[in-house]
Amino acid sequence: PGTEAQQAVTRLTRWADDFPEKGVRFADLTPVFADAAGLRAVVDALAEAGREADLVAGIDARGFLLGAGVALALGTGVLAVRKAGKLPPPVHSESYDLEYGTARLEVPADTIDLTGRRVLVVDDVLATGGTLVAARDLLTRCGAEVVGAAVVLEIGALNGRTRWGSGALTALSEV
Ligand code: PRP
Ligand code: MG
Repeated sequence: PGTEAQQAVTRLTRWADDFPEKGVRFADLTPVFADAAGLRAVVDALAEAGREADLVAGIDARGFLLGAGVALALGTGVLAVRKAGKLPPPVHSESYDLEYGTARLEVPADTIDLTGRRVLVVDDVLATGGTLVAARDLLTRCGAEVVGAAVVLEIGALNGRTRWGSGALTALSEV
């Protein structure tokens, strides 16, 4: 039962306890993306969530794998939303708390006009929601309209969906 994407996630996700820190249960989707049918299924399903988008934002690093595929499926470009220190200035940046540690997301400030762009934010996992919300805040501050977010796996117990709020949020599978 379940969609093809859900079946691939169920079958191929590797779960690791106490990684990268004690108390965190880490979902490693690497085997899902390394599987030809798995990658195809998740990319196509994520793209379904972004029909209205004219740009896909993939979040550093695991969101990159999906973002480019989804953009190709939708016929849009992909914007790499980078972790701090990877882009030369000037950048727009947004700090956020992770399930473990803190981080900062950045996009170029001078070369890509995001005003009025309709952006689908893509990532692999929704945990606390800190990453997705920071990406949305960053893109919104740059003038974009975030039309939704799409992730492969939602960790329901961490309440990321509540933190995200009422905007469109598609999760292909949930634990
Ligand atoms: C992981 C995952 C999501 C985020 C989810 O990324 O890929 O981006 O955490 O957590 P949250 O909902 O609590 O914010 P991570 O920053 O660990 O690094 P990576 O993608 O660069 O591997
Ligand atoms: Mg990530």
